[in-house]
Amino acid sequence: MAKRFVAVLLAAMTWAVESQAQKPVYAHFIVGIVEGFTIDDWKTDIAQAQAIGIDGFALNCAPERIDNYTPKQLANAYQAAEELDFKVFISFDFAYWNTGDTADIIDIVGNYSSHPAQAYYSMSNNSHRFLNDGAIVSTFVGDSMDWNAVKNALPDQKITALPNIQDPAFLANAQTGLDGAFSWYAWPTDGGNSIIPGPMSTVWDDRFIENLAGRPYMAPVSPWFFTHFNSKNWVFICEDQPNLRWEQMLALKPALVEIVTWNDFGESHYISDGQPNHSDDGSGAWATGYPHAGFRTLWAPYITAYKSGADKPTVESDQLVYWYRTTPKDTVCTSDTLGPPNGIEYLADVVFVATMLTEPAELTVASGGNAPVTVTVDAGIVTTNFSMGVGQQSFSVSRNGAEILSGTSEKDIANSCETYNYNPYVGVLSA
Ligand SMILES: *[C@@H]1O[C@H](CO)[C@@H](O)[C@H](O)[C@H]1NC(C)=O
Ligand SMILES: *[C@@H]1O[C@H](CO)[C@@H](O)[C@H](O)[C@H]1NC(C)=O
Ligand SMILES: *[C@@H]1O[C@H](CO)[C@@H](O)[C@H](O)[C@H]1NC(C)=O
Ligand SMILES: *[C@@H]1O[C@H](CO)[C@@H](O)[C@H](O)[C@H]1NC(C)=O
Repeated sequence: MAKRFVAVLLAAMTWAVESQAQKPVYAHFIVGIVEGFTIDDWKTDIAQAQAIGIDGFALNCAPERIDNYTPKQLANAYQAAEELDFKVFISFDFAYWNTGDTADIIDIVGNYSSHPAQAYYSMSNNSHRFLNDGAIVSTFVGDSMDWNAVKNALPDQKITALPNIQDPAFLANAQTGLDGAFSWYAWPTDGGNSIIPGPMSTVWDDRFIENLAGRPYMAPVSPWFFTHFNSKNWVFICEDQPNLRWEQMLALKPALVEIVTWNDFGESHYISDGQPNHSDDGSGAWATGYPHAGFRTLWAPYITAYKSGADKPTVESDQLVYWYRTTPKDTVCTSDTLGPPNGIEYLADVVFVATMLTEPAELTVASGGNAPVTVTVDAGIVTTNFSMGVGQQSFSVSRNGAEILSGTSEKDIANSCETYNYNPYVGVLSA
């Protein structure tokens, strides 16, 4: 009798905790390209993020000795966020910081951990700080950073350290004072930057969750990866990932999600608009003229579903989002000194269409010179792919014999190029 009472009580308590879980969605923001940002520039980006339900930015930054504007831009970000009731936290980029910077890290965390725009890890909600909630701090790499040193130096301020960890097995016995972890395995890989065929799976997420043993896991969600610098020149095989990855999140229900990224144009995983005032590190060669705003359209229902614990997104109006590379993979570019990126042999020459439908309908795609193809698609979000044809890309959706939306992309697929660009062109059509 007593045992059964305890079991029922425990079930009720578990339900209470789960039903209050806040499920925040953050987006990784590269501060290193926004030296010239004003508070208004920050507010433009914040408003775009808020429009799809993103709760805050993880402010990826380098130390002042590398980027002398880091303190100023952190201050701008926190102020803009406060004005728009958005949340931010600092993500120390350990490509530039090291454990010898602990005193500075303590200083910065201490400066911001009580700021009104600081993001807290909370089992309740974003607007109230509860007894056990800590100010979130995170990283890119920096696995060995001692967070106990930071916590001990700030005894009056609770800190929740969710650093990026590269080897999930490290989490089982970590003595670094971490409270949870963030993974950077947002694309199919065997670890490090190894390229493997897709599709994306949750094998790394599962390893994190197992080794965290109940501590919060911040899962990465990314739409793409292509980079073409002389220091790094590869693709990850993630073409169907823009919605597949969110389907995985709805099944996995991690404690937090971090979108990777908001504005990393260099690796082609941005979802922001073009950010007119960011500085161009050379990535303009593949990012300019390649909008990704359609990924935000596609993700809004997934973010809502993730937060509510739903297994499927709810679609409220008929739309479609398409994405494709603008050259077939065998096209040889004529004036590219770097050569083709590693990994392209695994890519598929297809055009992707995610239909977002309130009722089933017929989707017709005419890709370049290929004959138009019509398929029946279900309600909800469904991704279908079509053989890529060189030329114009046209899409239409009909229901009960009547066309409900249609359009032609502003960007053609071409079979000639000067430099390699495997960043997708993303578009949206609405009824
Ligand atoms: C912390 O805040 C103080 C006071 O505003 C400021 O002087 C200092 O530069 C800040 N430290 C860092 C590392 O941002
Ligand atoms: C968050 O929790 C506090 C305390 O329970 C409550 O007063 C407030 O209305 C909640 N806010 C939201 C947005 O749910
Ligand atoms: C930032 O971009 C906007 C939009 O193009 C422009 O109006 C504004 O003047 C720019 N700000 C700066 C500081 O360049
Ligand atoms: C295209 O769709 C087919 C049929 O659903 C699927 O088997 C294939 O994996 C998809 N291709 C890519 C690259 O996602």
